[in-house]
Amino acid sequence: KEQLKGRSLLTLADYSKAEIAYILELAVQIKQKQKNGELYQPLKGKTLGMIFEKSSTRTRVSFETGIYQLGGMGLFLSSNDIQLGRGEPISDMAKVLSGYLDGMMIRTFSQQDVEELAENASVPVINGLTDDYHPCQVLADLQTIKETKGKLEDLKLAYIGDGNNMAHSLMIGCAKMGLDVAIAAPKDYQPKNEITALATSFADGSEVLVTEDAVEAVKDADVIYSDVWASMGQEEEQKEREKAFAHYQVNKELFSHAKQDAIFMHCLPAHREEEVTAEIIDGPQSVVFQEAENRLHAQKALMVALMG
Ligand code: CP
Ligand code: NVA
Repeated sequence: KEQLKGRSLLTLADYSKAEIAYILELAVQIKQKQKNGELYQPLKGKTLGMIFEKSSTRTRVSFETGIYQLGGMGLFLSSNDIQLGRGEPISDMAKVLSGYLDGMMIRTFSQQDVEELAENASVPVINGLTDDYHPCQVLADLQTIKETKGKLEDLKLAYIGDGNNMAHSLMIGCAKMGLDVAIAAPKDYQPKNEITALATSFADGSEVLVTEDAVEAVKDADVIYSDVWASMGQEEEQKEREKAFAHYQVNKELFSHAKQDAIFMHCLPAHREEEVTAEIIDGPQSVVFQEAENRLHAQKALMVALMG
């Protein structure tokens, strides 16, 4: 607990298994308090700046309501409206905002920008998604898996689709927490080699597999996960990606290779009949809305741990 105070979250690679487990445990308690209607305001008077260079529904609303519920206030800072969008250096912005805020969350393109922000800030910086990572999503995902399966270890998560930010963060989160993880992606869209190697280095008895074969990945899986084929910033590649990923749709046939009680997860937003059929995402084994709700609880826990 003490070790998390004042820290930033740039990627889960920087956090130990015990630190992640602590945040998840706190998330469960915070969710329970909210369900009981209990007021819990350990961040009274604190402010979180939320810098967005990309769109967002879940991340924005869950952080903004989350900090408010904890007694603080969130400021939505779109890069269209702040000087960052007109070329103010990140390092200057970091120093200036550190004088006003108790924490910052940033959603942007390059992971390096988030690192530069954190290096120059004197308050915690939280990565709200980059092209490489989406750690906050994976905290909520792990919370959801634990809620549904009762444990994290001795489970297998299969991610089908693009080797993107979600694939990277899931590999790291699963490897750290003891889940087997299998990523199935077309040859030209596999996760970055150095991130696969990093995830593999964290695995302590569990397996990290990257394959082109979706059936192999899904075999005996407890969790099937998918994400969009074209991420934010890749909109022009939509058509060519639809072709490349045609055999990577999560549908009933693919699902039949997983365990019978497998759950379906997706970070959302989703495209029905592209990466997943409506039958699956709207079906009884889908937990996508519980997963989306847990963004709120997991991030409240994260903010309490870092900013409390
Ligand atoms: N899953 C997720 O991060 O959603 P938003 O892009 O809506 O924030
Ligand atoms: N891979 C997606 C995730 C959105 C939450 C993107 O980066 O657009």
